[in-house]
Amino acid sequence: MFIIFVGPPGAGKGTQSRRLIQYLGIPHLSTGEMLRDEMGNDTPLGHTAATYIQLGRLVPDKLIVDIVSKRLDEPAFRRGCLFDGFPRTLEQARALDEELFRHGASVTLAIELRADDVEVTRRMIERAKIEKRTDDTSETVQHRMAVFHSQTSPILEYYAKKNLLEVIDAMGTPDEVFERIQACLERRRNAVAG
Ligand code: AP5
Ligand code: MG
Repeated sequence: MFIIFVGPPGAGKGTQSRRLIQYLGIPHLSTGEMLRDEMGNDTPLGHTAATYIQLGRLVPDKLIVDIVSKRLDEPAFRRGCLFDGFPRTLEQARALDEELFRHGASVTLAIELRADDVEVTRRMIERAKIEKRTDDTSETVQHRMAVFHSQTSPILEYYAKKNLLEVIDAMGTPDEVFERIQACLERRRNAVAG
């Protein structure tokens, strides 16, 4: 089962991922976390990524697709995973389809976590007080949201056309949002079971 979380910064992708990987027993694949690990380890990729991340820009598709492909070759990821923050462009969505096809698999479902800009900004201002992410300054946050609307939102239509998109209201408490995700998965499962 290959599930994708799509949503603006602060929508709760990371928060809901932690719950959903437990619930489904599949590994987590967060490109943001992978890049932050590279930055933390001072690797050449980390250095390159930092120049984009600090400005709230997307890291080039080729770099992202390469690190995801490598991860998908690992045995733990063969049977499925939860993608958090990937794909983020149409190019990445197409590359993921090709990569999964190579493994004899396909995307099971894309879940859009929908929350308004005012709420996600509020959440990130709160998070900035606790966590020290270099991209949580108010200017960068605004830019990341604009990037979501211009470069990432087209993938929603890509998955909708394949009948693979579910929209979840991501306003409310984390528990409420997770209940909606569980209910949505149940509905899908029952529909498949006929
Ligand atoms: P990434 O790490 O993916 O960050 P993001 O998409 O900007 O999203 P966040 O991690 O900020 O938010 P989230 O949706 O995970 O929310 P969270 O659960 O933390 O990417 C960072 C950067 O890396 C990108 O800008 C780009 O440069 C680069 N990058 C990554 N992937 C890439 C790709 N595929 N291609 C190109 N570049 C890429 O929640 C936020 C806060 O709100 C937390 O404090 C949380 O506790 C709180 N919260 C969560 N849910 C709720 C709730 N329901 N109610 C109240 N508070 C809540
Ligand atoms: Mg996150």
